[in-house]
Amino acid sequence: MEQIIILDFGSQYTQVIARRIRECKVYCQIKPWNTPAAEISALEPKGIILSGGPASVYSSNAPKPDPELFRIPVPMLGICYGLQLLAEFQGGKVERGDKREYGKGTLTIQDPECPLFQGLEKQIQVWNSHGDKMTQLPPGFTTVATTPNSNYAAIEHRQRKQFGLQFHPEVVHTPRGKEILSNFVHRICGCSPTWTMKAYRQMAIEQIRAQVGKEHVILGLSGGVDSCVAAVLIHEAIGDQLTCIFVNNGLLRANEGQSVRDVFCKNFNINLHYEDAADIFLSRLEGITEPEKKRSIIGNTFIEVFEAAQKKVGSAPFLAQGTLYPDVIESVPIAGNPASLIKSHHNVGGLPKEMKFKLVEPFRCLFKDEVRELGKELGLSREIVWRQPFPGPGLAVRIVGEITRERLRILRESDAIVVEEMKKSDWYYKVWQTFAVLLPIRSVGVMGDERTYDYTIAIRAVESQDGMTADWVKLPYDLLERLSNRIINEVNGVNRVCLDISSKPPATIEWE
Ligand code: XMP
Repeated sequence: MEQIIILDFGSQYTQVIARRIRECKVYCQIKPWNTPAAEISALEPKGIILSGGPASVYSSNAPKPDPELFRIPVPMLGICYGLQLLAEFQGGKVERGDKREYGKGTLTIQDPECPLFQGLEKQIQVWNSHGDKMTQLPPGFTTVATTPNSNYAAIEHRQRKQFGLQFHPEVVHTPRGKEILSNFVHRICGCSPTWTMKAYRQMAIEQIRAQVGKEHVILGLSGGVDSCVAAVLIHEAIGDQLTCIFVNNGLLRANEGQSVRDVFCKNFNINLHYEDAADIFLSRLEGITEPEKKRSIIGNTFIEVFEAAQKKVGSAPFLAQGTLYPDVIESVPIAGNPASLIKSHHNVGGLPKEMKFKLVEPFRCLFKDEVRELGKELGLSREIVWRQPFPGPGLAVRIVGEITRERLRILRESDAIVVEEMKKSDWYYKVWQTFAVLLPIRSVGVMGDERTYDYTIAIRAVESQDGMTADWVKLPYDLLERLSNRIINEVNGVNRVCLDISSKPPATIEWE
């Protein structure tokens, strides 16, 4: 398959570059900055992109690629730090700039013949983020675009098909950036637009069949997008050789268990084993208030219940998982940049590595948006494809303090109202997550002529890219008013609704 290799020098945007290339319908992979050139050559890339990064090329511990890289005879594009590497390795000069260039700027294209800028106007808006600048071109290179602050905002060695951009074409603040990347992969590297989810569906089906043969596969269905799409794809590949296990841990949202059964058994005719373990989970959670203790009880019970369910459905050598590409991208730390070590931190609801299964992971090379696209392609509803993330420990991380059946009832009813109203107003699909939280605080209220002593529900709505950081969403007042009125009027046991206006950090998205 035609592919582009992106070398990662620690930029926060490396994955964004990859997503943009995939949006151009070209397959690409991210490799660590120190990958040997021979290994990259062996992948037969149609082009190589050097990402940006936080280091300075002239500092002693800057990440430097294998020098042989520049001899691989394929087109190359250096972005920001990548441009500086291209220049430095080939005889140019990079120095600390007098002023940092940060934010929006105007790029003037000086050479209209440059294939990278075909189809664009003479001036476009770009986004910069760099302190260093190139002060001398390497031999054979020419300037193709400038900004008021830089004579070398874009450079080119036309014969070698090597290009460098001082700005970031991958971010949304460079509105025409995708066209620049498209010019690189299509015009310059000669890739054809063949990476589509329609094509991937066929490819994945063949791979799954080849991997699994006549054996059986088990899949833990959580109701989330990844496991739902995986179930339908694998079912399409191997039909009844797939059995899904859905564990009701008693911490699900309203109607969740039923709707999973409806979709998978009725619509898709998939073998589904529904394990109702609510009583076991809830009895073990009785009296527990400490957040980490709750999590570990839920995690351990899940493994126990899943193993027992798996024995009931019969042995299978394969376990399917919806692991995504961002979870498997290898990264090598960059000296002095602790941010490059931050990894996602939630794994409750997963299965231990010791479980003796061979893994079927059809999304190991896909981004979340591609999995959604594939889900659409496979005929899953908007409802499932655009489902917001829901944590493995379920409503347990949305009840502060002890989890009781009564508190779960109150939270479930309140949450159903939040979700319903958010969907009606379309806000559900515009934000990362939106849900209700139950606070264990009871306070006095009046309802009619009576005094009440009831719980408080907090509404949480956040905007986020990946759950690692988040901002609270400024929902319209009339929507908030409807949420508050409906929850207080319709849910027995609630007399107060408040809105969480904290961002992450320092708060978290869930309340535990
Ligand atoms: P926090 O609360 O840490 O959550 O800001 C960040 C994101 O992770 C989700 N989350 C989980 N997902 N198992 C999961 O699969 C978990 O144990 C878990 N805890 C939190 C949360 O919903 C948010 O999207």
